[in-house]
Amino acid sequence: MKDYITRRLAAVLVSALATLSYLPSAYAADVVNLRCEYLKNPLGIDVEKPRLSWVIEERSQRSEVRGQKQTAYQVLVASTPELLAKAKGDLWDSGKVASDQSIQVEYAGKPVESRMECHWKVRVWDKGGKASDWSKPALWSMGLLQPSDWKGVWIGLDEPPREMPATTNKAMQVANEIASRRLAARWLRKEFTVCHKVKRATAYFSGLGLSELYVNGQKAGDDVLSPGLTDYRKRVFYVTRDVTELVRVGQNAVGVILGNGRFYAPRGKTPAPTEDSGFPKLCLQLEVEYGDGTCDEIVSDPSWKITTTGPIRANNEYDGEEYDARREMPGWANAGFNDAAWSSAPIVGAPGGELTAQMINPIRVTGTLKPIAVTEPKPGVFVFDLGQNMVGWCRLKVRGPAGTSVSLRHAEKLKPDGTLYLANLRSAEVTDAFTLKGKGREIYEPRFTYHGFRFVEVTGFPGKPTLTSLEGRIVNDDLATAGEFTCSQPTINRIYRNMVWGVRGNYRSIVTDCPQRDERQGWLGDRSVESKGEAYLFDIAALYAKWVQDMADSQRTNGSISDVCPEYWSFHKDNVTWPSSAVIIPSTLLDQYADTDVVARHYPCMVKWIDHMSGYITNGIISKDNYGDWCVPPEESKLIHSKDPARKTAKPILATSYFYHCLKLMTRYATLLGKTEDAARFDALADQLDAALNEKFYQPEKGCYDNGSQTACVLPLAFDMVPAAERERVFNHLVEKITGETKDHIGTGLIGGQWINRVLTDGGRADLVYGFATNTTYPSWGYMAEHGATTVWELWNGDTADPSMNSGNHVMLIGDFIIWIYERLAGIQCDPDAPGFKKITIKPTPVGDLTWVKAHYDSLYGRIVSNWKREGSKLTMEVTIPADTTATVFVPTKDAADVTEAAKPVAKAEGVKFLRMENKAAVCAVGSGTYRFQSTIP
Ligand code: BGC
Repeated sequence: MKDYITRRLAAVLVSALATLSYLPSAYAADVVNLRCEYLKNPLGIDVEKPRLSWVIEERSQRSEVRGQKQTAYQVLVASTPELLAKAKGDLWDSGKVASDQSIQVEYAGKPVESRMECHWKVRVWDKGGKASDWSKPALWSMGLLQPSDWKGVWIGLDEPPREMPATTNKAMQVANEIASRRLAARWLRKEFTVCHKVKRATAYFSGLGLSELYVNGQKAGDDVLSPGLTDYRKRVFYVTRDVTELVRVGQNAVGVILGNGRFYAPRGKTPAPTEDSGFPKLCLQLEVEYGDGTCDEIVSDPSWKITTTGPIRANNEYDGEEYDARREMPGWANAGFNDAAWSSAPIVGAPGGELTAQMINPIRVTGTLKPIAVTEPKPGVFVFDLGQNMVGWCRLKVRGPAGTSVSLRHAEKLKPDGTLYLANLRSAEVTDAFTLKGKGREIYEPRFTYHGFRFVEVTGFPGKPTLTSLEGRIVNDDLATAGEFTCSQPTINRIYRNMVWGVRGNYRSIVTDCPQRDERQGWLGDRSVESKGEAYLFDIAALYAKWVQDMADSQRTNGSISDVCPEYWSFHKDNVTWPSSAVIIPSTLLDQYADTDVVARHYPCMVKWIDHMSGYITNGIISKDNYGDWCVPPEESKLIHSKDPARKTAKPILATSYFYHCLKLMTRYATLLGKTEDAARFDALADQLDAALNEKFYQPEKGCYDNGSQTACVLPLAFDMVPAAERERVFNHLVEKITGETKDHIGTGLIGGQWINRVLTDGGRADLVYGFATNTTYPSWGYMAEHGATTVWELWNGDTADPSMNSGNHVMLIGDFIIWIYERLAGIQCDPDAPGFKKITIKPTPVGDLTWVKAHYDSLYGRIVSNWKREGSKLTMEVTIPADTTATVFVPTKDAADVTEAAKPVAKAEGVKFLRMENKAAVCAVGSGTYRFQSTIP
């Protein structure tokens, strides 16, 4: 039952749970860090075989065991904490399993059932055969697995906003249109009686588009903008909340507020009509269990009451929220509230999609920013500067007479006169309005909207606001930080910081293109290979597995996948590059998390897409392309897209090389899944494309493909399509383009940019990438930063280009820069033959005037560290490899005899095996542990 994605998600959720120590218990438990607090103890998952992972950590740093390995494990899963404490795994006792597998271990106990609690722990045997203590206990619970478990019906109010009088006045027409997009929130409530002491109370609910749940006046959970986005025609998320602490013996009340979200979404028709799913609605089931085994179910049905007269007068994600505090309804979610004026909640049509457990991290307020300045560019118009292009909303503190209305508008930039620059937001109104009730200090934060902004215009404020009148509330998927990077070069640190802000702000239960204008969609092309870089920043396993499911949900019966997923905009253009993310992103999940399951589950979708697109191949060439090498640096400051043919890359080159890459990935997946015939078929087709591309576009006299654009060189090099004898010439052509034509600056757009930094580095020209990374002249990330960017722009010339497509917070131009930073500068890489960092490569790149790098990445096995510093020709590398993994370490040196580890020659160092010299590096094999290598570099 259920779909694959949810299986994947549960695995990741559960994987974060256990941490255990392998040293004798005589050592104090001073290192027991859970890898990811947010994902601890997931409730309401709906996978039958969740995958469990644990991290083996030392209890003491004082005596390190090198080369530590798990030789066996035992997992216990029990239905109660008491049984688990007695080491009784009534659901599963794996027994002692001789295995070094410590991640992605599939649950193999009794079949799971709806609502089941699964308490678990694990112990391992180390390389010496010594057993560890049991890990701390952890928990997951099951959601409602069968459609028949749902007793609640969908309730809501299919009522549009009040119709405005017809008008010929243009401004009024616009106002009417905006009003039609913003509904008043729906408030729903129900009272119920609890007669005995409660053992457990759990709410399962789906409130569309967005919802907040209250029990006895208190909000259940701290998530916002919930549930996550899906194509509601295919899939609808429900969330599970443990509300045991909120329910009490006696009279109780449950309340839900519903906002539009993307469910009620009547936006304009450009660039495509937005999928509108209808009016907000709720399906809820609150199950109250008692000690005697009986249970009460409070379910959504027409006995609930509903009103639209509450304080949220209008809301939608893009235009903002209007809140009238005079209409607050104190006690509305408490027992005893007089709801006589509310109506009975009608039963409404179900949304269509399958109710599925939401198993991604919730969206939360993850931080607060205090303004750094406030100005008054016009009388009564105050502009706050938060100092950072952020995503979320504001918290306003204000005192004033009842009925005073304060408006907040949000923008990324200012005009020269200090007022907001709104032209690049297109039709998004980005305005929140708060009407005071006039009682003391009032605090307002919107619920059902979000904005991408650095500046906030405040109008209507009673008196003069101060810096403490407002603060920015940062809102995004609450993902654990996965890695950190710093180095001696300030521009790189600044760019890196901007990228982290940009990536983080574009998590909204999908990965969005931008957070501010009237778009905010999951454009597939923007995150294809770039997703791998994000994996070094945040734990994206669950989010991206969910997005891959969004892609599968968009697939038509003929195999076509939409360029935008979830398919709020239907873009079935059948180009190669954008939908190829459906094939490429699973490779990120495979490499970073050893997620073979996502590959298996998603495989039919990928095959179908490949087969569908193969129909467009003519003589080994596929020319289906829509966007080109999107957003190459244009030749003129006002242009969005270059008009210069020399900067553009021909569509057949983009499409054919990308399709070739997809076929190679399919060969890998098919081989992994034991589908040898498929593997041979994909490989053979790949060979045909390779031959045809070289035949048709390679120009032997020039040593380049077609017009020799940077991207036309980069892609065949990256995918290893260039005949060996010609590789150097193509590489040199690329180098000449960069040094000659673009004067040591990057000349690629979204497509070439996802590969160029690694292609150049692996070809021996890391110095050129170091130039890209440290340039502050156009085009470069440093140029953006020098011109005020605190995130990454959509366009290299984002400070001068046409505002119609010019976001200040886009992710796509990051390309493979973050991958380069981690995998090349710090040199932390996963060996693809042992995915998930079971085998690690540490291969740093000392380049340019860089004198030190500090980086770590929290893999599923634990933390991998690569720090290096250079003093003259002396290189020091500090490397940490987690237990249960091995690594190959490349120590740059001019002479192997010169290399030491912990001040001993490597030959004598414990747990270090010198393998060979390769490309001016001593290559050593190590197991887990912390190492300090020193060498003399040329
Ligand atoms: C989006 C991009 C997207 C592109 C494709 C733009 O409007 O913001 O990120 O990939 O359209 O056409």
